[in-house]
Amino acid sequence: MSRFLPSRRTLLGGGLAVAGAALLSARGFAKGPAALSARTVRPASGEKKVSFSAAERSLKLMGADRPESRVWTYADEPFHLIRLRQGETLAVDFENRLPEHTSIHWHGLRIPNDQDGVPYMTQPPVKPGEKHAYRFTPPDAGTFWFHPHCDTVAQLGRGLAGVMVVEGDETKPYDADVVLVLKDWRLDEATGEWLPFSTTRGALRAGTFGTVRTANAEIAPKIRLPAGGDCRIRILNLDSTRVGDLSFEGMEAAVVAIDGNPVSPFPLKEWRLGPAMRLDVVVRAPAPGAEGTLVDYFSAKPVTLATFAGEGEGKRPSAFDPAPLSKGDIPEPKLKGAGRLKFAFATAAGGKSALAASAEGGDALDKALLDSLCASDKVNWSINGESWPAGDHSRVPPPLFTLRQGRTYVAELTNETPHVHPIHLHGFTFKVLSSTRAGAPVHFADTVLLTPKDRITIAFVADRPGDWMVHCHLIEHQDTGMMGYVKVV
Ligand code: C2O
Ligand code: CU
Repeated sequence: MSRFLPSRRTLLGGGLAVAGAALLSARGFAKGPAALSARTVRPASGEKKVSFSAAERSLKLMGADRPESRVWTYADEPFHLIRLRQGETLAVDFENRLPEHTSIHWHGLRIPNDQDGVPYMTQPPVKPGEKHAYRFTPPDAGTFWFHPHCDTVAQLGRGLAGVMVVEGDETKPYDADVVLVLKDWRLDEATGEWLPFSTTRGALRAGTFGTVRTANAEIAPKIRLPAGGDCRIRILNLDSTRVGDLSFEGMEAAVVAIDGNPVSPFPLKEWRLGPAMRLDVVVRAPAPGAEGTLVDYFSAKPVTLATFAGEGEGKRPSAFDPAPLSKGDIPEPKLKGAGRLKFAFATAAGGKSALAASAEGGDALDKALLDSLCASDKVNWSINGESWPAGDHSRVPPPLFTLRQGRTYVAELTNETPHVHPIHLHGFTFKVLSSTRAGAPVHFADTVLLTPKDRITIAFVADRPGDWMVHCHLIEHQDTGMMGYVKVV
C-alpha cells in the first residue's frame, strides 16, 4: 500500500495508519443532523410467517462456467431476504439441516433477549434435524441481517447469513430499492473447494481474507437501475474479515442511513464499512446506456465490486437532492447522570486454551457453553483483560458489567491493538457521541469500527433486561476471545 502514488486513496487520506486517524480527529466530528421529520407511513400490524432451513446447497460463486461450491445457506438463493413492514410481527419456523448445531442471531434488531439467538446464553443450540421457532416484532425500520453465533468462522464462511429489510422509513418512495451484500469467499479457485476458513496468522492479526470477492454472490455483477432515478442501495458488509473503503464512481451518491438508522442525507465520498456494518445510500442512477460503479479503495489496487447500468427512458434532469428517510425511534440517551463504562479491546494476556482447562467440573450448562463449536481452543484476544471463555474456566464467564434497566450508559471503547475491530453490542442501538471517523454526522449504530489505537464514545439506554453479547465482528477475533456480555437487570 504505497502512500507515494497519487492514488485517489492517498489523496483522500483514507489510510489505515494511525497518522490517518489523528488527522481525521483533528478535523472533528460534523454537527448533529438537521432534524429528520417524523414517520409518515402508518405502522403495519399482523403477522408474517416464514419458514426456512439451514442446509448445504450448491452455488456457482465464480461464474456460470466455473466449478460450483458447497455453500451453507438459509434458502435456495444466497443471503435469504426477509422483507416486512414496520409493526408487523415475524414468525419464523426454522429447521437445521446442517451436520452441526446452529441458531439465528438477528443482528441490529432491538428485540427481547430470549429471541436473540445466542446458544447457551439465550436459547439451547438447534441440533441437526431440530426445529426452532422465533417470534418478534422488529421495532425499527431499516436494513438488518441474521447469522449464526457459534462456529461462525465456518458457518458464515460457507455463506450462512440472511438479510432483513424492515420497510416504513421512506418519506417518498425511491425509484428502486436494491440490496447489495458484500462477501468474500475462501475458495480454491481451481476446484471451488473451501480453503481453511481460519489461519493462525490471520486469527492473530487482521483476519483471514477470502480469495473471491463478490456482491450478491456474484463477481462484479451488473445491476440495472431506472436511468436517472433516485435509487436506494442497501449495502451490507457480511464478510467475516474484510473492511472496505466504498465509493461510487460515475454516479452521485448520498448516505441516508447507517446500520439502518436514518441520518440527514450527506454526500458519500468514501465510507469505511467493516464487517457486519450497513450503509443505505441513495444514488442518482446513470443516464440511459451509461454506467456507474461501486469501488473499494481500501487495498492498494481499487476493486470494482458492482456495476450499475441506467435503463429505460431516463428521468428528471434535476439536481441531485435525495429525499431523506423519516426519523427513527431509538430511545435518546440521557447523558446527565449516565453510568460510565470502559471497554478495552486488546490481545489476550495468557493466550492459553480455556477449552482444554475446562474439561472437568462445573454444571451441565458450563460444560455445554464450552462445547467445541462455541469456544475456541485458542485464545488470542480479550475485552477488559478477559477472554471468552474466561474466569476460572469451570464456570460461565461473569458479565463484563451489570447494568440497571432503564438507565443510560456512556461507554468508552479503546483499541489497544494495531488492528481494526468492528465492535458490536447486541440488543441496543447506540448513539456514537465521538469518533475519529471524518465527515460522519452524530448517528446511531449497532456496530462501530475501532481503528488502531482508536477511542470511540457511545451512549445507549439499557431498556431491556437480559444477557447481551459485546464482541468484535471480525469473526476470527470473536471466536478467539474478543467477546463478552453485559447483564441488564
Ligand atoms: Cu452480528 Cu453477535 O453478532
Ligand atoms: Cu477484532
